[in-house]
Amino acid sequence: MKSSITQGVKLLATGSAVPNLCISNQVISNIVNTSDEWIFSRTGIKERRILSNNNSLIDIASIASLKALEKTNLNAIDIDLIILATSTPNDLFGSASQLQAKLGANNAVAFDITAACSGFIIAMVTAAQFIQNGNYSNVLVVGADVLSKWTDWSDRRTCILFGDGAGAAILQSSSLISNNILGFHLNTNGQKFNQLNIHYELDKHQENVFMSSMQGKFNVITMNGKEVYKFAVSKVPQSIQHCLDSLNLSVDQIDWLLLHQANARILNAVASRLMIPKKKVISNLEKYGNTSAASIPLALDEAIQDYKINHGDLIVLSGFGAGLTWGTIILKWQV
Ligand code: COA
Repeated sequence: MKSSITQGVKLLATGSAVPNLCISNQVISNIVNTSDEWIFSRTGIKERRILSNNNSLIDIASIASLKALEKTNLNAIDIDLIILATSTPNDLFGSASQLQAKLGANNAVAFDITAACSGFIIAMVTAAQFIQNGNYSNVLVVGADVLSKWTDWSDRRTCILFGDGAGAAILQSSSLISNNILGFHLNTNGQKFNQLNIHYELDKHQENVFMSSMQGKFNVITMNGKEVYKFAVSKVPQSIQHCLDSLNLSVDQIDWLLLHQANARILNAVASRLMIPKKKVISNLEKYGNTSAASIPLALDEAIQDYKINHGDLIVLSGFGAGLTWGTIILKWQV
């Protein structure tokens, strides 16, 4: 879908934050019947960070945001819009306003986007629309999730996978010539929503008949691992290819493949289908597991900090997950 584009979108800076508590595969093997060898060989994950004590999603989201802001000449008050991609808000009415308050970004309108592991991609595309049509100049996009709160810690098929984290990006309106978001492609298949979800169910134990017919609570994460795996390795390469074709770019022109950090086998399978060499695949999931909406900005921030990504590099960002939803952005990094 095309719209009237008057401005370019410049990625000014990124930031990220993870909780201090580190849970190794060894520790997980004391909770459920599994092993470091099984987890690492099937997923590539060694450890993950878990939010504990009184810390909240907003704490890590705000640290990531401040780290990104510090790298720019902007203050929180200069931000026009905050988009928080999360599926694990503090408040069902949305958490972005709490982030706005914590940052003191009093001029910003703030709202949440719920799109699970594709959340950051969709939030970036949403932010880009507001900038490209000339409505906002400075936008903070945050991907943050604390899936540990919604994990069934007795289910070895899922509890090995997830971790908590936050990543942030500051986007700014620019001339069309210095535009960094070259193109995108987004998809949803709601027919398969129940392959990976946290569903709401009525409380069968509620004694009051009237209440039990209308009130309940959200369940824990349920997932059909094999189906989600098949979905990712088939749809993500198609999305990336579609996006590259629309920009007349070839796979060879891509410097980095940065996929949602779900599973090393998915990363390798997608790269191999597209014939992208392993050395171009960015991965940090060994340290953090699947951090949902945080995974792409967290890996992007680390790769920029490590000087892996250089001025002028083309990066494919691709997210996929519950919904089922998936999407790709082609990004040009310019210092
Ligand atoms: N430790 C040890 N054994 C485990 C285990 C664990 N943590 N989890 C499952 N198993 C067992 C199963 O019980 C099964 O045993 P059985 O054959 O005796 O029944 C066996 O290992 C194989 O299980 P299966 O579910 O077929 O494993 P798999 O090869 O599909 O790997 C996943 C499981 C979850 C790692 C894999 O399906 C996957 O990564 N899927 C994608 C999930 C994902 O990325 N989701 C998020 C997307 S955003």
